[in-house]
Amino acid sequence: MDVQKAIEERRAVKHFDANHIMREAEIEKLMGLALLAPTAFNIQNWRFVLVRDADLRNQIRAVAGNQAQVVEASLLIVLCADLKSWEKNPARYWAHAPRPVKDYLVSAIDKYYRGREQVQRDEGMRSCGIAAQTLMLAAKEMGYDSCPMDGFDYDAVGELINLPADHVVSMFVVIGKATQSTWPLPWQLPMSDVVINDQF
Ligand SMILES: Cc1cc2nc3c(=O)[nH]c(=O)nc-3n(C[C@H](O)[C@H](O)[C@H](O)COP(=O)(O)O)c2cc1C
Repeated sequence: MDVQKAIEERRAVKHFDANHIMREAEIEKLMGLALLAPTAFNIQNWRFVLVRDADLRNQIRAVAGNQAQVVEASLLIVLCADLKSWEKNPARYWAHAPRPVKDYLVSAIDKYYRGREQVQRDEGMRSCGIAAQTLMLAAKEMGYDSCPMDGFDYDAVGELINLPADHVVSMFVVIGKATQSTWPLPWQLPMSDVVINDQF
């Protein structure tokens, strides 16, 4: 499937075959593609919690408005951001760069993020959003459907997954085999409403 088709055919699916099990090799392929999603300064601040335990999935469903796709999908991924990835041995993000480039970037990373909590959080949300779309398009190409989700109690989910204090939850992506087609696209804003040339 080419990218255009994957974009056009991706829809937020609500009903999945609860009996379908994704093979480990498929999960590995999917996550390998997600890890190619870009992050600012290559800080790779996303963390992907794959919720494999059935009890935990049920508990998460209970704090996600009882949405069935949380348990019926083959894979529930809780996308989180490590707010402090920028200061955790940042040289490793540029391990293969020439020394002067690495030194410059490590210093630039520190200058950019230190003391800027809102920027750290915004960056985490940006990275997870891009990774989420990467996951959904890769899933489509692999013959799967998906649903992005934020309809859940963030604090409760954080507790259930033992979220570290310097991380935040961004969103879920569930992936599986659709059992029902979605309703037609509700309505798209015309391009003239959302595409701005040069200035608002
Ligand atoms: C950040 C985000 C959160 C969403 N949360 C939910 C959710 O909790 N439950 C759900 O059924 N759909 C959720 N959706 C799906 C949207 O309703 C859906 O993407 C939108 O209506 C457009 O439909 P489409 O994705 O099929 O094109 C979410 C989508 C996004 C991008």
